[in-house]
Order: sequence, then C-alpha cells, then structure tokens
Amino acid sequence: MHQKAAVILRFFRQQSGFVSGEQLSRELGISRTAVWKHISALRGAGYRVEAVPSRGYRLLSSPDTLAAEEISVQLNSGLIGTRLVNLATTTSTNFEAFRLAEEGAGEGTVVTAEEQSKGKGRLGRIWSSPPGANLYCSVILRPRIKPFEAPQLTFLSAVATARAIEQTTGLKPEIKWPNDVLIDGKKVAGLLNEMSAETDGINDGINFVILGIGVNLNMTADQFPGDLRHPATSLLIEGGAKISRARFTAFLLNELDRLYAGFLDHGFVQVRREWQERCNANGREVVVSNHGRDDIRGLFAGIDGDGALLLRHPDGTIERILSGDVRVL
Ligand code: BTN
Repeated sequence: MHQKAAVILRFFRQQSGFVSGEQLSRELGISRTAVWKHISALRGAGYRVEAVPSRGYRLLSSPDTLAAEEISVQLNSGLIGTRLVNLATTTSTNFEAFRLAEEGAGEGTVVTAEEQSKGKGRLGRIWSSPPGANLYCSVILRPRIKPFEAPQLTFLSAVATARAIEQTTGLKPEIKWPNDVLIDGKKVAGLLNEMSAETDGINDGINFVILGIGVNLNMTADQFPGDLRHPATSLLIEGGAKISRARFTAFLLNELDRLYAGFLDHGFVQVRREWQERCNANGREVVVSNHGRDDIRGLFAGIDGDGALLLRHPDGTIERILSGDVRVL
C-alpha cells in the first residue's frame, strides 16, 4: 500500500466520522486530486469509503486482511510488530521468518500469511492453513538466554493467545501442556517454536527464536481435515461471530509484547503462574503418551522452571516430562 494511503487510513481511524478532502490534502501535503487517487486505490484494495461533497470522506468498512497497515494501527506494543511482513501465500511463516532472521531481521519482526501451503505442526504434523480464514504468524525474538531456556518462550505465546481469545470473544480458553489452546476441550490454536543457537559448550547462546502461532479464527467445520487426531474448532464455530483477523492479531501481539517485556525483566515466574492458572489439567489425573514409550499415568502437578510437566505418582514421587501428549482423564 502506498504510504500516503496508509496515512489516510490512520486519519479515518483517529477521527470517526467524515474527514474533509481539504484537511487530508493539507495534512499530507498533496493536491485534492491526489487524495482522490489514494481513496480510489483504497477502494480497489477492498476498503469501503463514502464520499459526500460538502463533508469529505468516511471509512465504512475495511477488508478482512492481515495487511501491515491494518494491524499496525491497532498495535500499542513496544517491540513486537516493529516490522510486519504479510505474505499472500507461503509454505510456512515459520520457514519464512527463519529465513529473514538468518538474513538479520530484527527482534520483533512478525511474519503473517493469508495462507500456508505447508503449515507445520508439532511432531512433523501438517497444520491446516486455508486462505483468508485464520491467523498464521511467526515472531522473531533474539533473547539473551541459554538455549535450554528457550522452551519457556512457548508458554508466553500460549498465554498471549489465551488472553487475546478472551479479550476478543469473551470465550474461556484453556491451555493444554505443552502448547495447545483449547475451547471446551477442542483445539483452537497451536504453537511451534524453532530456534537457531550455538551449542558448542563454550559460547552457548541463542541466535534467534521463531515463535510460530496458528489460531483457527474463521474456519468453518467443513474446512477441517477429516483425519485430525484430536477434536479441533475455531473461534467462529465456538463464538458464532466472525473475527476480524487484523484486530485479533493486534491484540495477540500487544499481549505477547507485554509478556515478553516481563519475561526479560523478571524471568519465567509470572508467565508460569498465569499459564498454570489457565491450564486444563490442574490437580487432575492425566495420561501422557510419549511417542512409542508406554503411557504414563499420574496427577498433573504443574510445570517447573524449564516448562517441563510435573507428574505426581501415587507414591508421591514427581516425574519430569519434557515431551509428549497429555490427556485429562
Ligand atoms: C501444533 O502442532 O499444535 C503447532 C501448530 C503451529 C502452527 C503455526 S501456523 C504459523 C506457524 N507456521 C507454521 O508452519 N506453523 C506455525
């Protein structure tokens, strides 16, 4: 989008109601004809703009896209979203963000896409990513922490996603260890972190972490693949109302920004507390299936400082579990 058109959009949002052509022409330092051209371009991009001769222009509605201009006007973050890259289509936003990070993209860069042709899920699974329906996003972080601490960051994305769902829909999401967000027991969001790090034992450190976040926003029941291992849902299905994807994304990034700032200042403690409050398994009996190993049964006793699941056995011993799928009994 042309930069002047983006500025016009910002005026519309700041001043609900009409903005006169004269004011726009003055503020932007361009002719009234040029203003008109930008308005036409906005219309071409799906914005509905009313024009009334004596009053000026008024924005009636915006297209449901993840365009940077749509997200940035709703951001109040300090770091996350300082650069927004929205792609019409990509294999995977995680892949694209990883590539950009390797090329030196700054911390806080966010890659979104309208669709993914090879959306990546956990454990090599596919993440269904139809066009225009959901949020597919990947955030580049460059924290000065040790590689073994990086899994803690997934918990930030889970809490930020849960907060954004609550704020935009009023629904009550729950978090399932390690990184699923559920509504009414059905999965609505998944998180996939990837990391580039030096682990030579001498200068162990993180180059960058990619936080991959997928949230099913407006997907309809018939768009879900038939072979899902666990029940899945979308906010549209659960709440009955269409979600503005840009608004949801801005809420999510704003929350992630706050959580990340807190994490850098105070460590994992606060995030861990909120994560545990939102967890679906508190004090309940669970079964952990761990890729080929025997299922383990026990009482869910929270997570530790590394984000590992703590399972209490009948004899009182606590087992730490680093990966697996949890089912509440
Ligand atoms: C899971 O299996 O639960 C994790 C799913 C993660 C999906 C998101 S969508 C945006 C980002 N890009 C990807 O390819 N995957 C993550």
